[in-house]
Amino acid sequence: MSSNSSLTPSARAFEPLQLGPITLPNRFVKAGTYEGMNFANGPSAALVKHHVDIARGGVGMTTLGYTAVHPDGRTFEEETSIGADNLVRFRALTDAVHGAGARVSLQLGHCGTMTRTPKRSTRKPLGPSKTLNLYGAMVGALFTSEMTSADMQTVGDQFVAAAKHAVAAGFDAIELHMGHGYLLSQFLSPLANKRNDQYGGSAENRLRFPLEVTERVLAAVGDQIAVIAKLNLRDGARSGVEIADSIKTAQALQSAGLHGLVMTGGFSPYSPMYLFRGNSPVPSMLQTEKSAWNRFLLKLGAKTAFRDTPFEEMYFLKHALQMREAVTMPLGLLGGLRSGDNVAEAMRAGFDFVVLGRPLIAQADFVSRLAKDPSARSNCINCNRCVAEFSTPGGVRCVLGEPNDSALNARPAA
Ligand SMILES: Cc1cc2nc3c(=O)[nH]c(=O)nc-3n(C[C@H](O)[C@H](O)[C@H](O)COP(=O)(O)O)c2cc1C
Ligand code: SF4
Repeated sequence: MSSNSSLTPSARAFEPLQLGPITLPNRFVKAGTYEGMNFANGPSAALVKHHVDIARGGVGMTTLGYTAVHPDGRTFEEETSIGADNLVRFRALTDAVHGAGARVSLQLGHCGTMTRTPKRSTRKPLGPSKTLNLYGAMVGALFTSEMTSADMQTVGDQFVAAAKHAVAAGFDAIELHMGHGYLLSQFLSPLANKRNDQYGGSAENRLRFPLEVTERVLAAVGDQIAVIAKLNLRDGARSGVEIADSIKTAQALQSAGLHGLVMTGGFSPYSPMYLFRGNSPVPSMLQTEKSAWNRFLLKLGAKTAFRDTPFEEMYFLKHALQMREAVTMPLGLLGGLRSGDNVAEAMRAGFDFVVLGRPLIAQADFVSRLAKDPSARSNCINCNRCVAEFSTPGGVRCVLGEPNDSALNARPAA
């Protein structure tokens, strides 16, 4: 919980925050937003610039978007994983962000079945259960295999190895991705987890594998860097995770010693707009998608899950408040924070930090603007066109701003 109660809520957001073994200079954290600024083998020079700009713009900690724990854990072929062979590129980035005065976190995930990567070490994508896989339709991987206990051990090993690489590369924190329909979220959700063993069925069983991964990662690196997680409050889809389930998960993670939680929502194959709100990104994604089959699938998705959805500021607040009542570990409020008033409300409600995605894509210096004027507002209009921009040669950017330097994105970070 927030420490110094004599300060105004706006001022409290600029106070330091202890997260496990590290201290953030303030309580503003950049949400992981996939940048499209890496090679299959690590960050580009553009990724370094992107995060240095955000660090200079005043955040306490910036977060690298989705990074796979192993090449099999990539959703897109262009995504990177972290390994011994590319640490030097990640190190160039962490050094540069530290030089700009901020901390830096690495979001680590495994996609499970949510993959459109044709190359993998297993014939079918692996997930909690053998299912029809809508997402895999994009690469003809329409069916998935149920993970065995040996597979689960292997993926756990991959999370531990990636966490150790993150320490070696100079990261201050790692964020285990347990939301949005990726592997750990697939285990948590009845939408994807149909198992009959001790890893399926009740909420207690479904959280078992994400908990085991967290315990192993904490044991390996938890005394050196902060280990936090990004967890769905709700999947936002019928028969998905509800708040009572996610509270049980968070309480178990807290008991394991997790250092903090970023609260999110949405299960990408079923409820992507629950995650984003605002305009559907599909019209702009269609402009950058090269494959006719994928364009067909996107159009199909646009008619069902990917529809325009009303945007509301602080759209996860109601369920986040329920989580606040249920756990004491540091909690980060995310989702539609667009103004100094929103930040003050989050602090007043007892959240420990705020997590900003699109406002920092739109204006890398949004936090500095808030420091000067606590009533400042983000200029983001929730058009979600930045979601399509990460597939362009320059990588993610706000369409209200200047184009990115695509030559910089063609150069490795080191
Ligand atoms: C371009 C873009 C890319 C994103 N990529 C990721 C990602 O890699 N990992 C993740 O957990 N969330 C991702 N998200 C979701 C954000 O982290 C965040 O949860 C969401 O945008 C809501 O926060 P906001 O209203 O502050 O933008 C992405 C969002 C955008 C706009
Ligand atoms: S493109 Fe810019 S205005 Fe549109 S949602 Fe993204 S950050 Fe906001």
